[in-house]
Order: sequence, then structure tokens, then C-alpha cells
Amino acid sequence: MTIHIGAKKGEIAETILLPGDPLRARFLAEKYLDDYFCYNEVRGMYGYTGYYKGKKISVQGTGMGMPSIGIYSYELIVDYGVKNLIRIGSCGSFQADVKVRDVILAMSASTNSNFASQYGLPGTFAPTASYELLEKAKRTADQKKIPVVIGNILSSDIFYDADPNVWKKWAALGVLGVEMEAAALYMNAAKLGANALAILTVSDSLVDHTMTTSEEREKTLTDMMEIALELA
Ligand code: HPA
Repeated sequence: MTIHIGAKKGEIAETILLPGDPLRARFLAEKYLDDYFCYNEVRGMYGYTGYYKGKKISVQGTGMGMPSIGIYSYELIVDYGVKNLIRIGSCGSFQADVKVRDVILAMSASTNSNFASQYGLPGTFAPTASYELLEKAKRTADQKKIPVVIGNILSSDIFYDADPNVWKKWAALGVLGVEMEAAALYMNAAKLGANALAILTVSDSLVDHTMTTSEEREKTLTDMMEIALELA
């Protein structure tokens, strides 16, 4: 057991899916996994292990923001030996041609967070997805005929920004959209020797202010989960 995860050694699979919302972890386990059990209830941050098409896989809520996913991903890698960490989340679009319901594979994650300062680098680190996971996710999406957009996203520490137009500066550099976790996940994976990828569905657009309905959210959520599950 760690400070934040109540699982025993061996109860967590080498590949784990990481939704921000712990109830999505439960939804995924109930809908897709065989012979699953709940290994964590600490702080209501549910974690489950089961089998998908015969392969062992886990799913764990991470909470919102880089401090929270930073804690869970660290303990999963260091204390439980997890090798492949796949965030499944939502994001806001920065680009007119990235629409609500689109699925993004985050090749890289820019950030306004100070997370990388712990490494004492003489420059700026570029948090990057595992090419192996990225390539496999793209191939799976193609097979399932789910269109995906691949590129750079922003992991922001701020949801309610004091400057409502600051996102346009990131958009001008081609950043696809904004969420709040991937950069810390990518940095922990890089530092600790694991593979990471963030798969995101676009839930809202900062460009045209559209939002997905709850029905659409459920459909796109399952598209994203079905891509992620194949990475086990
Ligand atoms: N900002 C930050 N995180 C998000 C957003 C957003 O607009 N939409 C979904 N996750």
C-alpha cells in the first residue's frame, strides 16, 4: 500500500487507463472488464483490475490537475511497477477545425505548470508521448474507423483564467486544445522509465463555444475507451 493507493503488490496490471473522474473508472470496469475487482477506494479515487479480451488491465481515477495525476502516476510506476499509463480525458479545443466529439492523441503536452522545475534543467523540457503507444493508438483508431487528430496540447494549471484570451497565444502556435494533466504524466513517465499517452475527447470549444451533450459525451467516451483498451 502507498499513501494514496490501497492495492497490494501484484493487484495492478502493467497497463493502466487513467480517467480523471473515478466514476468513469467504475463505468469502464463495469462495461468492459471481465473478472474485475476494486483495488482502491482511498479518497474515493476508485481503481479496478480485470481482463479485456483476456489481457490483464487496470483503470484508475486520477482526479483533476497535475498535482493529482502526478501523485497517482508516480506511485503506480514506482510502487506498483506499472509500465504503460494511458490517460483518457476531455479537453477544450483551441482550433476551428478541431470540433467537439473529435478524438485527440496528444503527441506532446506544452504547459504553464512549474512541474519540470524539480529537475533543475538549464532549459525547457518538452513532455512527449510514448511513440510506441501513440503509433498503436493511431493504428487501432484507423481499424475502428474513428478519426483522430494528433499533435500538441496544453496542460494548464488554470481552468478559470484571469485573462480569457490567453489561450489564443497557444492556438497561434498550433496547440490543439487544453486539459490539465498530460504534461505531468509525460514527465513522470520520462523520469521514472515508463510509457505514457493521453487520449482526449473534445468536450467544448473555446473557438465557437459549442459543447457536447451528455449523450454525445457518452458515445465519444466509449470510442476513446475502446481505443485505449486495445493498448493492453
Ligand atoms: N480547460 C481545461 N480543461 C478542460 C477544458 C477546458 O476548457 N475542457 C475539458 N477539460
